[in-house]
Amino acid sequence: MSDQPLVLGIETSCDETGVGIVRGRELLVDAVASSVDEHARFGGVVPEVASRAHLEAMVPTLERAAADAGVRLADVDAFAVTSGPGLAGALLVGVAAAKSLAVALGKPLYGVNHLSAHVAVDQLEHGPLPEPAMALLVSGGHSSLLLVPDITHDVRSLGSTIDDAAGEAFDKVARVLGLPFPGGPHIDRAAREGDKVAIDFPRGLTSGRDMERHRFDFSFSGLKTAVARWVESRERSGEPVPVADVAASFQEAVVDVLTRKAVLACRENGVHDLMIGGGVAANSRLRALAEERCEAAGIRVRVPRPKLCTDNGAMVAALGSTMVSRGLSPSALDLPADSSMPVTVVQA
Ligand code: KG4
Ligand code: ZN
Repeated sequence: MSDQPLVLGIETSCDETGVGIVRGRELLVDAVASSVDEHARFGGVVPEVASRAHLEAMVPTLERAAADAGVRLADVDAFAVTSGPGLAGALLVGVAAAKSLAVALGKPLYGVNHLSAHVAVDQLEHGPLPEPAMALLVSGGHSSLLLVPDITHDVRSLGSTIDDAAGEAFDKVARVLGLPFPGGPHIDRAAREGDKVAIDFPRGLTSGRDMERHRFDFSFSGLKTAVARWVESRERSGEPVPVADVAASFQEAVVDVLTRKAVLACRENGVHDLMIGGGVAANSRLRALAEERCEAAGIRVRVPRPKLCTDNGAMVAALGSTMVSRGLSPSALDLPADSSMPVTVVQA
């Protein structure tokens, strides 16, 4: 196989059915069908609804990806699929589809870790990943700081959230403020008109003692409760809720902690490159503050464009392609859909 393999990646760990095709590090197509609208009225992703939507979207999304990329499935050199972590039933749809393709076409299959794929995707936009790199992954399902000496087989977890994920906090606070689901983009927009120092919301796990026990962990549940209490007390007193100020102050509390801990992790591990991924990486204030603080600390920061930050198939193809190029063996054909796949296991 060439060092520019044609790899098709499938992602179904949550509510996006993603099919991406890459040639080496070149992105050919990134087809995504999302069931997010079907979950909106529940205020969060409903696993059974997501699985059913994946089943319906899988074949049309595969066909659309191949047509848009101008390739035949038979020309694909290797298939890659998210093996975990994620929703069990949702993962199963992608894994079954990828196995069928690999068996029917007689091609190798790589089962990959969703979080590592979020890191690997940046190569499609900014070139080879510097190794070691630090990765801050923030989405509706995860908030992790990862040290990445080798993206294909050595990914170490320095910390993660001990309660809510960062995106989950955005979504819950948006609900308190009467903004639609998913709330992140709405808070981001509202915050632009607000004052980020209007309300001093708590910064979770940053006190002296917490920094000893939870140096690189995050906690957003106390912050979410603090915002809800603040809004309730305003409403009780009959005063209007200053939505823009609450959004800006809440957002600042989240991105302050994320960027502070990410820079500290880089410093303490002698790492000079920070990569930020996941849906929350689309946040304009997170991007601005990360750039400001990294520049001051002599750290280069890479953030893929928003469409590559949210769940997609291209990220899975990007990691699969790197595995093929580096000569890693394919996964066994009985590879599992592992909802609790540890972050340190890059390949199933
Ligand atoms: O990566 P993603 O698409 O799916 C998961 O794996 O969860 O991330 C979705 C999350 C949601 O919680 C959404 O509110 C958040 O990313 N998000 C944002 C922004 N855009 C999306 N959060 C803050 N600011 C944004 N601009
Ligand atoms: Zn994700």
